[in-house]
Amino acid sequence: MIQSTNGSAQPQTQADWTDVDHTGPGTLAGRYLRMFWQPIYRSQDLDHGRAKPLRIMSEDFTLYRGEASPVPLPDGEATLPPPLPHLLAFRCAHRGTQLSAGWVEGDDLRCFYHGWKYDATGQCIEQPAEPEPFCQRIKIRVYPVEEYLGLIFVYLGDGEPPPFPRYPLFEEDGVRTATTYRRDCNYYNSIENGVDPVHVAFVHRVSAFTDNGLIDLPHVFGEETDYGVATHAQRPGGAVRTTHHMMPNILHIKGSPDDSETGWTDQIAWRIPIDDEHHVSYGIVLQHVEGEAAERLRQRPGRGADVSATVNEIAGDIMTGKIHVDEIGKPPYIVGVQDTIAQVGQGTLADRLHEHLGRSDVVISLIRRVWARELQALAEDRPLKRWALPERVEATIGV
Ligand code: FES
Ligand SMILES: [Fe+2]
Repeated sequence: MIQSTNGSAQPQTQADWTDVDHTGPGTLAGRYLRMFWQPIYRSQDLDHGRAKPLRIMSEDFTLYRGEASPVPLPDGEATLPPPLPHLLAFRCAHRGTQLSAGWVEGDDLRCFYHGWKYDATGQCIEQPAEPEPFCQRIKIRVYPVEEYLGLIFVYLGDGEPPPFPRYPLFEEDGVRTATTYRRDCNYYNSIENGVDPVHVAFVHRVSAFTDNGLIDLPHVFGEETDYGVATHAQRPGGAVRTTHHMMPNILHIKGSPDDSETGWTDQIAWRIPIDDEHHVSYGIVLQHVEGEAAERLRQRPGRGADVSATVNEIAGDIMTGKIHVDEIGKPPYIVGVQDTIAQVGQGTLADRLHEHLGRSDVVISLIRRVWARELQALAEDRPLKRWALPERVEATIGV
């Protein structure tokens, strides 16, 4: 019996620290993920003056962005930066209705039910129906927020957040697109898919990956690094594709070209649990294109569109046997359909007890060992590995 850091005495068995799937409050994996800054929305999807309900790791929150300032700037040219987003508790402290249904007023949020108003620090500042307001006694929880590269990051852990990490490669010139999709399975199905280069030859046999050379079955190997795990896929000619899993839930790869104009792209994506049976991915794609070609790409219709609804519907039709994947051709979102089938097909929570891992699963085994080691250290209040991101991590394509 071990006294856990959240104060509750609970039995800790090996099953606890190999449980990477359950991420609700108080779970080991959930506590671990909450120790890192995580993206939870795209900047472009959060309008000024709107509040949204948000579920992350089986917890509910309120996300809003203040109203745009109506004040014109003196030079008439410059524009004010958009107001920063705020992440607050889900419920009003008065009688608990959900705050996202209310009204954003300036940089504050007014509750839908009886009009209590909160500022961006969570402090209650108005109680319209109270003859003797007691606002000063009412404060709801708020969370640190950063906006970076088109994504809204939050820190959901206890105490001071760690320094906000930057990804210099993704700040470089080129066409940058924030991406997102929702998938109806546990986030760890996706994490393991990301360190599984063998699947490309089967799952993505009809795709830009294989069109551009990732056809043959690779020899897979990998190693733990300062920032996570590097995965290498060596193909018969000797060329090696290297991708990176940055702890705890980030994948960095070279992505396949959309067409001859774009070349291989750099892609980074965070897999974020919504709850234990659904996850969302937030990412950045950087196309290394400049000048007129870049402008053409920026104007391309549908750039960065969230096509989850279409992808999940088609994948559902394939998984229920209505159609076969070979019958859908090669739509632009084919890779999403293919990965959805593979990952949701494992079950919303994959059954790892009844797998039969082989030599080619060597990096999957490695990443599980790394995670289990860290979760065990967390359970026993021992020091965790301090992951360090180098100035530049290169994913390579090797074709
Ligand atoms: S529940 Fe929010 S003001 Fe009453
Ligand atoms: Fe894939």
